[in-house]
Amino acid sequence: MEEVTNVTEYQEIAKKKLPKMVYDYYASGAEDQWTLAENRNAFSRILFRPRILIDVSKIDMTTTVLGFKISMPIMIAPTAMQKMAHPEGEYATARAASAAGTIMTLSSWATSSVEEVASTGPGIRFFQLYVYKDRNVVAQLVRRAERAGFKAIALTVDTPRLGRREADIKNRFVLPPFLTLKNFEGLDLGKMDQANDSGLASYVAGQIDRTLSWKDVQWLQTITSMPILVKGVLTAEDARLAVQAGAAGIIVSNHGARQLDYVPATISALEEVVKGAQGRIPVFLDGGVRRGTDVFKALALGASGIFIGRPVVFSLAAEGEAGVKKVLQMLRDEFELTMALSGCRSLKEITRNHIVTEWDTPH
Ligand code: FNR
Repeated sequence: MEEVTNVTEYQEIAKKKLPKMVYDYYASGAEDQWTLAENRNAFSRILFRPRILIDVSKIDMTTTVLGFKISMPIMIAPTAMQKMAHPEGEYATARAASAAGTIMTLSSWATSSVEEVASTGPGIRFFQLYVYKDRNVVAQLVRRAERAGFKAIALTVDTPRLGRREADIKNRFVLPPFLTLKNFEGLDLGKMDQANDSGLASYVAGQIDRTLSWKDVQWLQTITSMPILVKGVLTAEDARLAVQAGAAGIIVSNHGARQLDYVPATISALEEVVKGAQGRIPVFLDGGVRRGTDVFKALALGASGIFIGRPVVFSLAAEGEAGVKKVLQMLRDEFELTMALSGCRSLKEITRNHIVTEWDTPH
C-alpha cells in the first residue's frame, strides 16, 4: 500500500475494506448532508494571518483538560460500534489514545464495555452518555464508568431522536449479530433488532428519553462526582444555560452532521458559543477536523481543544491500532508545523488575530 500522508486518505481505504452497510453508517450525515460538507468547507474559508521572525525552535503543544494534562489539544470523540471497523475496536482506540498521551471518549454504544476498555491499561478516558428512559440503567452505567476510572461524562444532548440517515434506511442498518452494545449486555438492551428502516433509529425511538431537559443535567450531578461536558451545543443561548446548569464544559458539536441537517458547521458556530460561555467553562469542538490547520483555527476562535470522530473509525478499519496512532501522529505533526509557521510557541500564543474569517471586518 502507498504511504498514507494525511488523515483524509483513510476514508477511501476504509471504503474499499468495509461492508457497504458499515461504511455507509460511519460516513453518512443526515438527509441532504449539507451540514456534512459544510463541516469541512467552512474551515477552508478561514485564512491565516501568520506572524514572522519569531523563534519557533521550541513548540509546546501540551494542555490541561478538566485538570488532566495531555500532550496536545487533539482528543478522540465517541463513535459507536468500533468493532464493526476492526476486531479490536475500542481496545485499539484506547491504546492508541493512551500512547499519544491524549483523551479517548468511549461511546455508550461501544462494542466493548467500560470495564474492558479500562483493562487495556492506564489512560485518561471520558464516557459519553445517552440517557435511556429507564433511569436505573443510566445510574448503573454512570456508576460503572466511574468505578472503571473514567474521568468525565460527555452528555450527548442533540439526540432525542435519531437524525434521518438515508443510507442506513436503505441498507436496513443493524448491529451485526456477532456484536453487542457491550455496556448494556446484562440489561437486555445490548442487541439491536432488524427493522423496516434503520435498526438504530428504532432502537433509539424505543430506549432513548425524549423528555431529557436541563433539569436532568442537574440530576446527573446528583448521581456522580464526575464533571459533565454538554455535547451538542450550537448557540450562545444554550452555552449560557449550560453554565447555569453546572456543566464543567461544552462541546460544540453537530454530531458529525448526523442529526439536524442545515445547522451551521461547528467551526462557524464556535465563536458565538465561546462568547455565550463568557470564559466561565471551557469550550471544545468536534466536526470535520482533518488537518492540523483546522485544530489551529478552532483554538484561534476560542476552543480549548478538539475531538475527532470519523478519522478514528476509518483508520481503525484500515490498520487497527496502528492506523489510529498514525492519525493522531499526523494531526499532531501538522498542528505543530502550523504553530511554527504562524509564529506560535504555545497554545496561549494562538490568538484571534492569527486568523481571518469571512465575518470579520477588514483590518
Ligand atoms: C458518532 N458520534 C457519536 N456521538 C455520540 O455522542 N455518541 C455516539 O455513540 C456517536 N457515534 C458516532 C458514530 C459515528 C460513526 C460517527 C461518525 C459519529 C458523533 C461524534 O462523537 C462526533 O460528534 C463527530 O463524529 C465529529 O465529527 P467528525 O470528526 O466525524 O467529522
